[in-house]
Amino acid sequence: MSDRVRSRTVGEIMSHPVVTAVPTQTVQQAARLMHRAKVGSVIVVEDERPIGILTERDLVRYASSSPGSSFGLVSDWMAPDPQTVGPEVRVDAALNLLAERGFRHMPVVSEDKVVGVVSMRDLMRIAEIQQFGTPAIEVPKGLKGVVVAETQVGDVRGTEGFYHYRQYSAVDLSQQCSLEEVWHLLYEGHLPDRAELADFKSRVCEHRVLPADLKTILPSVAEMGTDFVPLEALRSALSLLCSSWGFRPWLDLGPGVLKDQALRVCAVIPTLIMALHRLNRGEQPVDPHPDLGYAANYLYMWKGEVPSAEHARAIEQYLTSTIDHGFNASTFTARVVTSTGADLGAAVVGALGSLSGPLHGGAPSRALEMLDAIKKPEDADDWIRSAVEEGRRIMGFGHPVYKTDDPRSTMLRGIAEQLSGPRVAFAKYIESRVVAILRELKPGRQLYANVEFYASIVMERIGLTPDLFTPTFACSRAIGWTSHILEQAADNRIIRPSGRYIGPPPPAPIPPLDQR
Ligand SMILES: CC(C)(COP(=O)(O)OP(=O)(O)OC[C@H]1O[C@@H](n2cnc3c(N)ncnc32)[C@H](O)[C@@H]1OP(=O)(O)O)[C@@H](O)C(=O)NCCC(=O)NCCS
Repeated sequence: MSDRVRSRTVGEIMSHPVVTAVPTQTVQQAARLMHRAKVGSVIVVEDERPIGILTERDLVRYASSSPGSSFGLVSDWMAPDPQTVGPEVRVDAALNLLAERGFRHMPVVSEDKVVGVVSMRDLMRIAEIQQFGTPAIEVPKGLKGVVVAETQVGDVRGTEGFYHYRQYSAVDLSQQCSLEEVWHLLYEGHLPDRAELADFKSRVCEHRVLPADLKTILPSVAEMGTDFVPLEALRSALSLLCSSWGFRPWLDLGPGVLKDQALRVCAVIPTLIMALHRLNRGEQPVDPHPDLGYAANYLYMWKGEVPSAEHARAIEQYLTSTIDHGFNASTFTARVVTSTGADLGAAVVGALGSLSGPLHGGAPSRALEMLDAIKKPEDADDWIRSAVEEGRRIMGFGHPVYKTDDPRSTMLRGIAEQLSGPRVAFAKYIESRVVAILRELKPGRQLYANVEFYASIVMERIGLTPDLFTPTFACSRAIGWTSHILEQAADNRIIRPSGRYIGPPPPAPIPPLDQR
């Protein structure tokens, strides 16, 4: 509390005139007074002298114990002989008094007469401090625009349409570097030289091989449930793997161990995805190719064929461009789980759950479904218009941060153009119509194609089936999650925000079972 605040007195901040009642009034009358004056208590007086206080809490007690009765008297329900305070008392002393006694309101009394009332809320507001359980700062829904941590991993500048990883433009990195170079940048803080890169790649290669014991369990994971959902299967398999590796709460580990675990998890995720995918289709998993880089190997494990350089590079650019993107929901989830000291596997599995939602990573295949549903360019306007008018979201459009073109979408549009084909031309047409119609029907919202729209086109042109889209995104994003996990663990504080209770006032008596 600042000196300026501390030196203020109760008389300066109290509410007055005071809402008062007399002991012979009914509780209902007193409640009406409180309701009209929008206050949480009435001071009960006799000849202007405070003899009691009746608060919202007393009203709840009264209502629950005398259902239907309107004749309860204030004198029967008030708290008698309330703690009072003089107007000359300083704000900090009054606050301590309320806190010590557990009261919310106090009559202010001068020469035996009530001259005002101070509440905990008034004092908290003036003292600029937080009551336990009451948010000091009201934040927008969804924490939009709220800074929740400091990071050196990267940043997104929504209005400029720019994002970077450790100060390098992520689009430039995607266009000029291999995924492993960028991964090294994120983990080690600098782009690797040749020797560092060779060493890093060989560590990734070593860890991308599935352990033999997991291979025996994996077919049952791939066959669980009626519908195979690769991201769910990945979540389950990764949980099993991390516990079989003996991952323990990071709080008990050294930083070197955590980084090693992070690398192992990110190296093995692509292998797990493709093994599960193949097993579910009745095919044997393909072991990683020791001579291929991360991206080419990913496609190799899918079909068992070395992919074309064009496809490998397209998927590598996509993956590199999606490694990190600010405090998106899954990254924040990873940090929240990490902040509890939990093991790295738990944080990555939690983030996978977050990524699976259609408002986050689960949308790319839905963008293709839209193209399939529209079918012909001449039907586009009607389809888009009615979808928006019915209140549906156009998948692959809009972004919580970008209010201009999403740079990833622009880059991926370029890659899609290189891969070419009628589907690409159709997608570009649909993009232009969606943007135009959203501008007309949702003016001022600044809605453009996001990363997922062209990601789906690029992946489709490469031949990946839609069920693999979000898992493919998870491969690269896991590198971002783990970078944040390492950062969170290096300077940790448990993430524990507050909520604002807006239900009926407690404490309510628990009604007996047969009266509910
Ligand atoms: C990504 C997304 C969740 C961001 O949401 P947001 O920035 O919080 O925006 P809001 O949900 O507050 O929406 C703002 C307004 O734009 C509209 N809007 C946002 N995205 C829209 C979309 N894709 N289609 C139609 N309208 C959209 C909302 O209906 C809302 O309109 P209103 O002000 O009339 O209520 C949202 O754009 C969306 O649902 N997109 C589709 C799903 C998707 O592509 N997800 C992948 C994200 S990478």
